[in-house]
Amino acid sequence: MDFFEWFAERTSDGVNKRDLNDEQKKAIAATKGAVLVAAGAGTGKTTMITAKAAYLIKEEKLKPERMVMLTFSHDAANHMKEEIVKILPEARDIVANTFHSFCFDFLKNHSDRTGITEDFQVLAEANAEFLMFKELNIPASRVSNYINTVQRAKDLDISQKDYEGYISKLESKLKESLSGVSSLDEEASRIKVKINTMYLEPQTKSLKEEKKKLTALLDLYEDLEKYTSFLKGWKGYEKLKSNKKMLDYADMIKMVIDYCQAWGDDELADLYDYVIVD
Ligand SMILES: Nc1ncnc2c1ncn2[C@@H]1O[C@H](COP(=O)(O)OP(=O)(O)O)[C@@H](O)[C@H]1O
Ligand SMILES: [Mg+2]
Repeated sequence: MDFFEWFAERTSDGVNKRDLNDEQKKAIAATKGAVLVAAGAGTGKTTMITAKAAYLIKEEKLKPERMVMLTFSHDAANHMKEEIVKILPEARDIVANTFHSFCFDFLKNHSDRTGITEDFQVLAEANAEFLMFKELNIPASRVSNYINTVQRAKDLDISQKDYEGYISKLESKLKESLSGVSSLDEEASRIKVKINTMYLEPQTKSLKEEKKKLTALLDLYEDLEKYTSFLKGWKGYEKLKSNKKMLDYADMIKMVIDYCQAWGDDELADLYDYVIVD
């Protein structure tokens, strides 16, 4: 019996046989090299992937334990595996996991190089915000924004050093504009007062121009302050996490990328013969 007939029978509800469509069959049979399937929600991608895993094991004799399926949520990962095992019990050794758990496991399995030991724990976003508020005294109104920015920075491979570079650029720009000023903070307060009292003076063209200039300076000062306190918060956050032996979600992904950049990715690639991502 041909695989697709077999699949339709195994997945039928007893009344209707449900055939995969031609696009799904094509994606399933394409097992050499990388395959990208782009289609809208509810169009049958997950169904296709499930069938593909069965196809690889049944037709191409791939060892289930040499196949990894990755997705975003635990529920989706478990569901995928359940569906495959239902039709093909020998598939139970397939590794089905979330991106983050997969990375976390890898880091723990290489603790000699990563320093991530079994006792490390995941720091979820809500807890991270609370920790920042409670232990670093960062205002509650800011913590969510800080945590998001830290995660995004890690996802985009922007480091604390990059932030430091940007801050020192802002600082020299400001100092250049305010040459001869001894304290930036005092000068900023002075400028603020000046802007706020300008309405008392005759509204000449030159006054308007000066106001524009001073407002730009004040914006620059406020940016500098904003980035500086963010960076301080970020540093505190990293220290806190390492003291408590915790990793946030972005750490897990980024540390595996860093690992591969430092040690090469052969070792990771050699673990599996086929990777399926939903
Ligand atoms: N070839 C098909 N014929 C009929 N129904 C299908 C077919 N492929 C998938 N389905 C059904 O369509 C629904 C959505 O499929 P799913 O694989 O979850 O889509 P996606 O992952 O693209 O969002 C499910 O109920 C699934 O059983
Ligand atoms: Mg899906």
